[in-house]
Amino acid sequence: MVEKEEMLKKQSSQIIDIFNKKVRIYYNQKDFFLLLGDSFKLLKNFKEKSVDMIFADPPYFLSGNGISCSGGKMVSVKKAIWDEKIDVVTKHKFNKKWIAECKRILKDSGTIWISGTMHNIYSIGQALEENGFKIINNITWKKLNPPPNISCRAFTHSTETVLWAKKDLRKAKYKFNYDVMKKINNGKQMKDVWETSLVKPSEKKYGKHPTQKTLKLLEYIILASTDENDLILDPFNGSGTTGIAARKLKRKYIGIDKEQDYLNLTIRRYENEKKF
Ligand SMILES: C[S@@+](CC[C@H](N)C(=O)[O-])C[C@H]1O[C@@H](n2cnc3c(N)ncnc32)[C@H](O)[C@@H]1O
Repeated sequence: MVEKEEMLKKQSSQIIDIFNKKVRIYYNQKDFFLLLGDSFKLLKNFKEKSVDMIFADPPYFLSGNGISCSGGKMVSVKKAIWDEKIDVVTKHKFNKKWIAECKRILKDSGTIWISGTMHNIYSIGQALEENGFKIINNITWKKLNPPPNISCRAFTHSTETVLWAKKDLRKAKYKFNYDVMKKINNGKQMKDVWETSLVKPSEKKYGKHPTQKTLKLLEYIILASTDENDLILDPFNGSGTTGIAARKLKRKYIGIDKEQDYLNLTIRRYENEKKF
């Protein structure tokens, strides 16, 4: 028992080593860390080239006065203050700035995945290239049960995009677990269209987040680009989907969010997940 505790302490201190100054940890269990605060400030406290993979699901900036459909009901598109519409220039500055910080802390062999919709993905693609990333793939996440478009003035929105990028360095050999993904796809080469249902009710039983991703999507991403014990960072943690998938797959995790309620929801998910 004492030996196990000592071992956990040692592993945790290895993660803390990646910070270049003392950082207040909001929650820590084994190799699962949550930081409360603004990513723009907190990312500066990470040492250069310290994380193996980054997944980010930044604000889409689409909340406004529109209406949408959820669970068969009409709902407002006002998801949260952090998601409110901003002008194109401010949106691009926002994306360019956090992506620059991610580039600094990502190992040369690491990759970054960023999910988005038409509201932000074009800015993100450009910000990646402007920051010296090379886009490897443009994954289309096809939702099998999308809500209908109740305006009837556009096609049903049924996809999201996930951009996968590496540092644009000639020597940067990035990790791609090609065979693992082929096996998942019944022995056939995995394509860049991934189909899943929307988040299952069982994934929401510890509380709701307005833009929660499905665990399956994150599991694919983690399996494709990391190995056990690699360190994954999510600078927009939300309900902690990336962290839960990372933990299930025995990867280390650091999640950052500026909303305490979302970190508390993540902790409830983490502590109630029995399969770890
Ligand atoms: C699109 S959601 C992420 C959802 C997440 N992928 C999930 O599965 O639950 C974006 C998150 O970023 C957080 N956020 C927005 N701006 C932030 C900032 N500057 N620093 C840290 N967190 C931020 C919001 O509170 C929100 O939870």
